[in-house]
Amino acid sequence: MSAKALTENAEGATDNMAARRAALTLLETVLVQKQPLDAALENSDKFRALPQRDRGFVRMLVATTLRRLGQIDDLIERNLDRPGSLRNRTIANILRLGVTQIVFMEVPDHASVDTSVRLVEMAGMEGQKGFANAVLRNITRTYKELVPRQDEARINTPEWLLKIWIKDYDLRLAAEIATANLAEAPLDITVKDPGSKNFWGNALKASELSTGTLRRAGGGPVQELEGYDSGAWWVQDAAAALPAKLFGPLEGKHVIDLCAAPGGKTVQMAAMGAFVTALDRSAQRLKRLEENLARLGLADKVEIAAADASQWQPADGQAPQRILLDAPCTATGTIRRHPDILHLKTAQDMESLTAVQARLLDNAADILGVGGLLIYCTCSLQRAEGEDQIERLLAARPDMQRVPIAAAEVGNYTELVDANGDLRILPFHLAPHGGMDGFYAARLTKTG
Ligand SMILES: C[S@@+](CC[C@H](N)C(=O)[O-])C[C@H]1O[C@@H](n2cnc3c(N)ncnc32)[C@H](O)[C@@H]1O
Repeated sequence: MSAKALTENAEGATDNMAARRAALTLLETVLVQKQPLDAALENSDKFRALPQRDRGFVRMLVATTLRRLGQIDDLIERNLDRPGSLRNRTIANILRLGVTQIVFMEVPDHASVDTSVRLVEMAGMEGQKGFANAVLRNITRTYKELVPRQDEARINTPEWLLKIWIKDYDLRLAAEIATANLAEAPLDITVKDPGSKNFWGNALKASELSTGTLRRAGGGPVQELEGYDSGAWWVQDAAAALPAKLFGPLEGKHVIDLCAAPGGKTVQMAAMGAFVTALDRSAQRLKRLEENLARLGLADKVEIAAADASQWQPADGQAPQRILLDAPCTATGTIRRHPDILHLKTAQDMESLTAVQARLLDNAADILGVGGLLIYCTCSLQRAEGEDQIERLLAARPDMQRVPIAAAEVGNYTELVDANGDLRILPFHLAPHGGMDGFYAARLTKTG
């Protein structure tokens, strides 16, 4: 749903203070307490207490603020009497939410300004009401001239990340990635029974990509869509649905899913007829996997174990023939869906994650049976978490070889496969269809 439609739908949201207060708390939870937005939404009583229509508005308001924070702060700064003088964090966050509504959500100016000023008052800062009012009123007058002059791709992207993308790709591609991240992602769906795809395509008003994913333009709460409760489908980005398909037919096969939770790929492989051993280090995330399996009626196809996959060995001593390693990563390929990543992930996170990925990959290569397949994937855009990991492993282990991926395996989209035969998906790929999450996947075998 568009920001304008959401705003109009959220009748009352234009002057609804409960919605604005929830948005302020959520923004602070992400920016100050450094919690992911999804977790903040899940844990927020204020948010859950709102009527459905206001929840959509609040989610959009906070996500847009996080996505466009560089531009928003630039606008605020340019409209201060004394640049650099805004020190109060609460006032800054209230102004940010106000600017988002004025500039990016088409909420009427008077409603955006008035509700922001009321938020300042509610925060116990009566004395700052005039200041907030003046800054936001200035912005309503100046933004139409200022916004087109902003380099939106650059200023909404953390410098450390942009630098790496320029090094890994080039300036043009890095700018294309950053621009693609400014758009909302569509809702992608994998259907449990491929024979019912036409039915669900019609029922959900979704179109089918040639990779097999159903894509729905409209938003709204997923749980309320037809077929969710009965477990006919699950949400999975078109890119995330590709790695598991690289094993080929899975009917009657056993797959070890080393980093399985919350289970998008586990359920996909179980629905393809595999028996899956699903491991994850996080017992809490494995609970989500169990819930998903129960909803989809696939629990009998999966055995679950909490384990450190960098140490794990098969209990029966049998070397696995199929291993999926969907390693923990900075998840920068999913910024369209999770703009909080822009503010939560750091260069240090990437460094520690690459060390974890290397350990996981080494163990996966150790335990893989001769002639078996290992699919390594991450939803990171940085080569350090994708291509470089595979190059390191292949250089160190002559017994491991790449099994190149063909475009025919991924819907004949040639742009998704690189010169080595790995999947390298960038968020602007398939742009005419609504883009894809950034993803990397390599398929390896062991020669003995
Ligand atoms: C990218 S997510 C997996 C997503 C999942 N495959 C899916 O499709 O829904 C990475 C997972 O790796 C898990 N993880 C991180 N380090 C691990 C380790 N050493 N052993 C096992 N799991 C680990 C995290 O808890 C997280 O659930």
